[in-house]
Amino acid sequence: MNQNKALWEKGDFTRIAESMRESGEALVMTLGITDGLDVLDLGCGDGTTAVPAAQLGANVLGVDIASNLVDAGNARAHSLGLTNCRFQEGDASDLSDIDEDSFDLVVSIFGAMFAPRPFDVAKEMVRVTRPGGRIVMGNWIPNDPTLVAQILKISASYSPPPPEGFVSPMTWGVEDNVIERFMAAGVLEEKISFEKATYTFDFASPPSRLVAAFRAYYGPTMNAFDAATANGRDAELHGELDALFNNQNTSPSEDSTSIPATFLRVSVAV
Ligand SMILES: C[S@@+](CC[C@H](N)C(=O)[O-])C[C@H]1O[C@@H](n2cnc3c(N)ncnc32)[C@H](O)[C@@H]1O
Repeated sequence: MNQNKALWEKGDFTRIAESMRESGEALVMTLGITDGLDVLDLGCGDGTTAVPAAQLGANVLGVDIASNLVDAGNARAHSLGLTNCRFQEGDASDLSDIDEDSFDLVVSIFGAMFAPRPFDVAKEMVRVTRPGGRIVMGNWIPNDPTLVAQILKISASYSPPPPEGFVSPMTWGVEDNVIERFMAAGVLEEKISFEKATYTFDFASPPSRLVAAFRAYYGPTMNAFDAATANGRDAELHGELDALFNNQNTSPSEDSTSIPATFLRVSVAV
């Protein structure tokens, strides 16, 4: 059983991704997409960034480990009439069915950071990028006070310790780790740059409803609730998350949610 795959197939990330569409589109607008650009979206989910990239004229391949999300992405592309956007199952740690130098741009927004074996992930991203091409990652930052870093931190505190040798996905939000991984893949340090950016979760219901969506559909939170329930601590976990979401909500309306979250944007020139 591949635990990484099971984690993301357990829920239905499309239900969370619905709150991320606007920021996904805004981010894609900053990627310099031109007609015919070959783009790989790694850990693409149901296409929050793959779809708008294709709508700007890129030829997009979305790769994700979760078969339900691959199906959802293909269904979205089909319903939008996008013939230049397809999704297939794959593991960011091992893209062996993709030829080297295949893409002008490899993008991974909160996707490849969740794959095991981060050095292999960096190596694979560099391998499939053409010389002169680019890699752009969006990674959550450990101990950041904003939403997702805090959800993952709270969830981890209710979950059993990870197996021996597990490398936290959050290490992709640490510049020194990112530099080390890409340099091991043959990239010069001066070709790697960083900036902090913001992704906003917009939801047409109050924050407590978004907590319920994370509890029902977001694999890491689902696992945390399973562990908390087994220990009789599910109400405590729910209370912590509910306070977090409500405190971070910036929407002026009581009926909707708007929560900005900070991430590390990594750019690599290959
Ligand atoms: C937080 S979601 C982000 C999805 C999408 N990039 C977005 O912005 O909506 C993380 C995604 O990474 C995928 N993922 C996790 N581990 C992966 C791996 N080893 N290889 C490929 N995708 C992976 C999950 O299935 C999930 O779709």
